[in-house]
Amino acid sequence: MSDLIRIQFVCLGNICRSPLAEVVFRDKVEEKGLKEKFDIESSGTGDWHVGEGADSRMRQTADEFGHSLEDHRAQQFQAADLEAYDHVFVMDKSNLNDVLYFDEEDRHSGKVRLFREFDPNPGDYQVPDPYYGGDEGFKNVYDIVSRTSEVILERLIAEYDLNGEAN
Ligand code: 4NP
Repeated sequence: MSDLIRIQFVCLGNICRSPLAEVVFRDKVEEKGLKEKFDIESSGTGDWHVGEGADSRMRQTADEFGHSLEDHRAQQFQAADLEAYDHVFVMDKSNLNDVLYFDEEDRHSGKVRLFREFDPNPGDYQVPDPYYGGDEGFKNVYDIVSRTSEVILERLIAEYDLNGEAN
């Protein structure tokens, strides 16, 4: 199992953006028959919501687009995750700063990327935090996450030569 490609999506609270990225990316992986190749997780840099389910507004948006956040439980990003995961995709620059803070010897910065680096229409390279805004913010997060996850998966399929690996 050591050849699993380990992916972690990170936001602040792990109840809105990164849980959505986790389930959308996982569903795209499953559609391609590549489930056995990946370990996909998400976390937040903060601890306020640890153990809680996803935000109800994010759950509803996920549902509308055919994804389920019902099994999600929030967890906090750990320094050890930098070692354990191959790719860490962060939602905004504050998350990037917080994650890299754990990388004291600068050994892992190459695996930590802004998620929207892969967005064909990247704006300011950050996924806007929808938590304090209205419903349209959640739909916007979904649009960003959906198109960007598609590109990230295509890049990983190429990087790991997974074409033809589907089962
Ligand atoms: P997330 O959204 O980082 O996308 O999960 C937030 C959730 C909670 C808080 C902030 C952002 N909060 O301040 O509690």
